[in-house]
Amino acid sequence: MQRIGVLTSGGDAPGMNPCVRAVVRTAISHDVEVIGIHEGFDGMVRGDMAPLTARDVGGIIGQGGTMLRTARCPEFYERKGRIQGLRELNEAALEGLVVIGGDGSMRGALELHKLKFPVIGIPASIDNDIWGTNMSIGVDSALNTIMEAVDKLRDTASSHQRAFLVETMGRDCGYLALMAGIITGAEVILIPETETTIKEVGEAVEDAYARGKTHCIIISAEGSSLDTHEVADYLDGLEVGFRTRVTILGHVQRGGSPSAFDRLLATRFGVRAVQALLEGESGVMVGLLGREIRTTPLEEVLSRSRTANIDYYEMARMLAR
Ligand code: F6P
Repeated sequence: MQRIGVLTSGGDAPGMNPCVRAVVRTAISHDVEVIGIHEGFDGMVRGDMAPLTARDVGGIIGQGGTMLRTARCPEFYERKGRIQGLRELNEAALEGLVVIGGDGSMRGALELHKLKFPVIGIPASIDNDIWGTNMSIGVDSALNTIMEAVDKLRDTASSHQRAFLVETMGRDCGYLALMAGIITGAEVILIPETETTIKEVGEAVEDAYARGKTHCIIISAEGSSLDTHEVADYLDGLEVGFRTRVTILGHVQRGGSPSAFDRLLATRFGVRAVQALLEGESGVMVGLLGREIRTTPLEEVLSRSRTANIDYYEMARMLAR
């Protein structure tokens, strides 16, 4: 291969830039030219791309977001869009592609593989919902952002004897909320993977107050079955002793400088993905399995998704006494 492309797709994640950097620098070390495709599959379909030199990826290892920008691309789910994207790849004389993104992006990567275009996927999603890797790019950085926010909220919660409901990202996977609950010592954790009734939340908060706690932290994944504001209203109606306040962390979890873990993970993924492409692999995604970076077929990656570990959930409940 003499020329490959790289793109970032779907929700951005801290660590995408170090990953792009690793892809470019690894390719150049093998005398392979890299073309950066802007705004994910959307940019591919529009032919929006430009060469990336070693200098272009200088100074980005610690920058959040993605220098290539990203987008969600519904037209790529249509065959017409995929054929147009393939046409643009061939027009640019690209011989392979590295796709950095979440499960939707891996789906797009698989479609290109089915069209016989060599492609390697790299998992990047703060939700950590991608099968085939223990950690995706961005998860550790997002978890540190949540931890710092909840630690700050705990200060004011204990000053005012309040119960704080903190909503994290995580549509279908409660990993972020669960791990944040454990590392911040939250009294209640609400995740899509478990059914907690609003009455049980009330009882847990009453129990915390009765045990003499000066505050209560409830961490709720946006995909959990209970609505954060409804829970807050319900708790206020109970007049437990804690007044409640709500903090929706939102997109702040997607920003910020990538953590040390994410910089290393992103770098290892980027290097391995280019090596796999140059060794003739296609239709696979690199992933952290144990301590190793290994590839998994995209069909298998997309056949299921990761969910939060219930053993950790039970451990969190035990320790929140
Ligand atoms: O998939 C990652 C994610 O951050 C989800 O946790 C969140 O629900 C979604 O993206 C938000 O999407 P958008 O950035 O398009 O609003």
